[in-house]
Amino acid sequence: MPGVDVQRVLGIETSCDETAAAVVDGGTTIVSSVVSSQVDLHARYGGVVPELAGRAHVELLTPVLADALAAAGSDASGRGIDAVAVTYGPGLMGSLLVGVAEAKALSMAWGVPFVGVNHLEAHLFASLLEQPDLGWPLVVLLVSGGHTLLVEVTAPGTYRLLGGTIDDAAGEAFDKVARFLGLGYPGGPAIDRVAEDGDPAAFAFPRSLLGKGYDFSFSGLKTAVVNEVRKHPEARTEDVAASFRRAVVDVLVSKARAAAADVGARAICLAGGVAANSLLRSEIVAACEADGIGAFVPSRALCTDNAAMVAAAGWWRLANSGASPLTLGADPNLELVPTHSPDLS
Ligand code: KG4
Ligand code: ZN
Repeated sequence: MPGVDVQRVLGIETSCDETAAAVVDGGTTIVSSVVSSQVDLHARYGGVVPELAGRAHVELLTPVLADALAAAGSDASGRGIDAVAVTYGPGLMGSLLVGVAEAKALSMAWGVPFVGVNHLEAHLFASLLEQPDLGWPLVVLLVSGGHTLLVEVTAPGTYRLLGGTIDDAAGEAFDKVARFLGLGYPGGPAIDRVAEDGDPAAFAFPRSLLGKGYDFSFSGLKTAVVNEVRKHPEARTEDVAASFRRAVVDVLVSKARAAAADVGARAICLAGGVAANSLLRSEIVAACEADGIGAFVPSRALCTDNAAMVAAAGWWRLANSGASPLTLGADPNLELVPTHSPDLS
């Protein structure tokens, strides 16, 4: 499929509980980016309720799109927009469909190309928005509510999976432990806050699969937290949170560091919602400094779900493999397939 050269791409993201739209110029310059979070809607249920998320996207997408277009000097006519990119998976079916249908409609109405973007690939592109001259190869630690992946990136869009979680994702572990500790939803930011006042050495929680390759496991850690708190009901929540956060970060940093040494990476890059974690951010920077390689930690707004990363990944996809057919459907189970890595079988 021939590449398509475009300037301004409108990105749309509705895969989970953020409704987002953004305009990105040339794949790297954010012209506008609007994110409307549904956190308050889902908080009382302790997690994302798929049916509610889908309905909320239907209500929120039109105003979010209008804001993103207006901030980019455009409007409903699509003036100045050269293509429309949208997350088509992985994610919640009902939520994905809202964004995919809207993107196809706009592409047809405006007469511009439509391109479907893999949400995981979009997270990998987030760092390029702030650091377009990142050196290669890179190791990206992609840690979100649904995924925990270590990926070697040898050029934009050229990657190899090094490892992933065999059970819970890192963000899922934060959310489940936070719920157990009564800290509410979403759990990651809550644990991060509370942990600041706790003793990370108060509990010796397990570091699963440490030193054993690049796969991760967090369900044993979650069970260990539950067991310890039941055994020690007097334990300070701050200490449990700090010890838990320390255990997760120890494993994430240690594996990312080993992977970087293994592949001769010039830098480690963080991506995904859990990359907003303060301890993970400071520890990865310290580890990279000690190892004499670069560390790239995107701003928190680009770690969590946003549409600027979708527009950036869409721009790159268009340039390299062209537009997607309008028959492309939402794919809730889409995986990160390293289609551009020549050394993979
Ligand atoms: O990438 P993201 O916004 O959505 C998904 O694609 O999953 O990630 C959301 C996840 C949630 O599990 C949330 O608890 C976690 O990122 N998270 C954090 C922090 N901020 C968000 N986890 C740990 N520490 C944080 N500060
Ligand atoms: Zn995400």
